[in-house]
This record gives sequence, C-alpha cells and structure tokens, in this order.
Amino acid sequence: MLNTAIKAARRAATVIQRASFDVDRISVTEKQHNDFVTDVDQAAEQAIIETLLKAYPDHAILAEESGASANLNDESEFAWIIDPIDGTTNFMHGYPNYCVSIALAQRGIVTQAVIYDPVRNDLYTASKGAGAYLNDKRIRVTKHDRLANTLLCSGHGAGPRALAEYMKMYGVVAERCQAVRSAGSAALELANVAAGRSDGFYEKGLKAWDIAAGSLLVTEAGGIVGEFNGESAYLHKGDIIAASPKVFGQMVTLLAPFA
Ligand code: IPD
Repeated sequence: MLNTAIKAARRAATVIQRASFDVDRISVTEKQHNDFVTDVDQAAEQAIIETLLKAYPDHAILAEESGASANLNDESEFAWIIDPIDGTTNFMHGYPNYCVSIALAQRGIVTQAVIYDPVRNDLYTASKGAGAYLNDKRIRVTKHDRLANTLLCSGHGAGPRALAEYMKMYGVVAERCQAVRSAGSAALELANVAAGRSDGFYEKGLKAWDIAAGSLLVTEAGGIVGEFNGESAYLHKGDIIAASPKVFGQMVTLLAPFA
C-alpha cells in the first residue's frame, strides 16, 4: 500500500512540476477568503485517486478538492486521506514550498504516510511501527530539551479570526524560543519536525488532509503529536502540536490558553 501511495504521489508531482514552469497559466479559484484551489490541484488529485482506486477499488477516499468524502469515524476499513498540493498559495505564486500528502487510515488510525516535495525531490515515508524515512534514510526528531533552544514552525488558516489568533500565539511562542517560521505548508512543516529540521510545529484549524501523513511521520520519527490540550483527537479537531518528546510538553503548557 505504501508503494501504491508513492506511485500516486509521483504521478501527481509530474502534473505539478509541469505546471510550475509557468505559474501565470494556472487557473485559480478562491474557495473562501484567502483559501484557493487551482486547476493543477484538481488534476493532481485526479491522478492520485485514479492510481489508488485502480489498485484498491473498495477503499474510501477523503480528498481536499474533489469532494470525495470518507468519514474517518465510520466502518470503512481503509480510507485514503489526500492533499494533492499542500501549500497551494505558495504553489500559485511560484514560492517553492509545497508538497503532495497522502495517508492511509485503517479504521480511523493512520498506518501509511507519504509526503513528496517536488521542489527538493524529497520523499518522506512512514508505515506504522516501522519508522520514518526521507529518501530511504531513517529520520528522527531533534533531541533539544529546552524550549529556549528550539526553532518552531506554525501557520494560519484562512480568515481574520485565524489570523488574529495566530498573531497572539506568535507573540507568546516567539518570546520563548529561538525563532518561529511560517512557510505555508503544514504537511511540510510536520515532515521537517520528523526530519529534525525543526523542533516543533503548532497550528489551529487545519483539516485531516493537511496533517494525516505528517503526523505519522512525526510519531514514527520518535516525536509526539497531540491537540493543544495534549489529547489525541487532532485529526478530527484540526488543532495540532507536534514536537520532539521533551519539547512537546513545554509547548502544550505554553499554548494551553489557546486550547
Ligand atoms: C494549507 C497549508 C497552510 C495552512 C493552511 C492550509 P492547502 O493547506 O497547509 O500551511 O496554514 O491552513 O489550508 O490549502 O495549501 O492545502
């Protein structure tokens, strides 16, 4: 199943890379204020769904753009959770930070994860219980134990409320760590935590397709993922903190007022 997901991600990446050479030709629709979909998201998603359903016609699909919807709480044995381009705003501006994200959930538990970054040609994979990998090399979260020594990442969704809350959290967090970065792709931020390129990530108001694959990468790399109150329904809630073990608890304490 992981191999099929990799094949699907690479097919989508071919569609995305071809379009990335001429971003002025990309057709953009605003779903809601500052939340966009492009014709390339749709074509990439189609390529992913076709590849997955050809191999597994009975599996359910939960995909960002096509409306195909599996309920993660229902009996579906297998459900694929797909974000064809996580970082659509970056992509449509030619800002080189976006990825394909594909996860497989088995009765609501994510068991396979693929994130493919077509800009850097980085392939992140994880299978539950078998570790996390970047281009076939095992990856692990950082060992920093003091918040003061960390680099953290975050982001904000669409809409003024999300922005206002992000600004408040930024003020609190930035004072306590070395830096907070926001590069516009939650899936890649989670992959960066898994790869030890940052110490932690936090964001509110995300969707399952933004975080399903990345959260398995983080836990398989030895990190912890939870809601802002530390509990574990982040896939449903969309509020997530993901970090190396010693940093996770400190982030939950710091962000508790925003839970
Ligand atoms: C977005 C990105 C971004 C996050 C937004 C998401 P999309 O996903 O993950 O980093 O801040 O909330 O919607 O729309 O590019 O797939």
